[in-house]
Amino acid sequence: MNVVVIGSGSWGTALAIKSALAGNTTTIYCRRPEFGKQLAIDRENKEYLPGVKLPDSLQFSSDLKSCIRDAQIVLMVTPSVHVRTSLEAIQPYAHKEQSYVLCSKGVERTTGKLLTTVMSEILGSVGCNLAVLTGPNHAEEVARNLPAAAVLSTKNLDVAIKLQNALHSQNFRIYSSTDLIGVELAGATKNIIALAAGIVDGLALGDNCKAMLLTRGLHEMTRFGVALGAKKETYAGLAGMGDLIATCMSGHSRNRSAGQQLADGRTMDDIMQHTNMVVEGFFATDIIHKMAEEHDIEMPITAALHDVLHQKITPAAALEELMGRNSKIEVS
Ligand code: 13P
Repeated sequence: MNVVVIGSGSWGTALAIKSALAGNTTTIYCRRPEFGKQLAIDRENKEYLPGVKLPDSLQFSSDLKSCIRDAQIVLMVTPSVHVRTSLEAIQPYAHKEQSYVLCSKGVERTTGKLLTTVMSEILGSVGCNLAVLTGPNHAEEVARNLPAAAVLSTKNLDVAIKLQNALHSQNFRIYSSTDLIGVELAGATKNIIALAAGIVDGLALGDNCKAMLLTRGLHEMTRFGVALGAKKETYAGLAGMGDLIATCMSGHSRNRSAGQQLADGRTMDDIMQHTNMVVEGFFATDIIHKMAEEHDIEMPITAALHDVLHQKITPAAALEELMGRNSKIEVS
């Protein structure tokens, strides 16, 4: 297959490596030509994935038109904030035989729309296939060929299986699903719980507290997804529980690390100013909290985190509030 990767950050580069190793003709589209040239010379993404050798077969291009025209699969791996503008640039060259696979985990910051909704708005008239790839996948580990699994979801199971076969490679196992909305929302909402997990670690609240957070966080994520049309079972799988565990327990996670810094008393703005990485959970928290209020979905952890991010309460006060909630003692 001819695969084009839009986004040359750590996850885009890791997926491009995997795609090339799976035998696909793979090109990373680099908006900045000089960056593409540097990648081709170094055979390493020194900025986002240092120390990982890029396969010799991996190509780089800054010619969007020819990249898209020849592609059968387009992996969208930009930060969520760039998804709309990237797709708008791609749209004139898109054609209906292609599959566009969303690999970013977030929601549109300005509108609160799902990224697959943004994809449909821009590519819907083209008639191409839309899919989501998500799961417990730290780029640093996948790129080093450590064993991992992901879920590929699209509405048409036959197409999902075709994409699954194209992207599957040694040590990167891909499962298929038709619950597009569930896998997408699970990926976006787990980043919120990962921020909270960082706070739990930063305040040294212990393993019991972390287990409580993950379990109740998963309930909250599931409640939100199901209210918006997701399947409950999705949340017990790789896109839900799997990614939640990987992110909340991880030494690599940008979200968990940002949570630890919040526990140290730093503000969201300060943390954002001092990183070249995107902490998707910061944006997801505001939007998911707003959507939960609009749809009357109970999301106490998200609400408490929202107040912490906007400096209405301290992390310690948020914890006290959550522990003192007038619980309905529902089934845990
Ligand atoms: P972070 O953005 O928190 O690093 O999470 C990565 C991820 O989604 C792993 O599956």
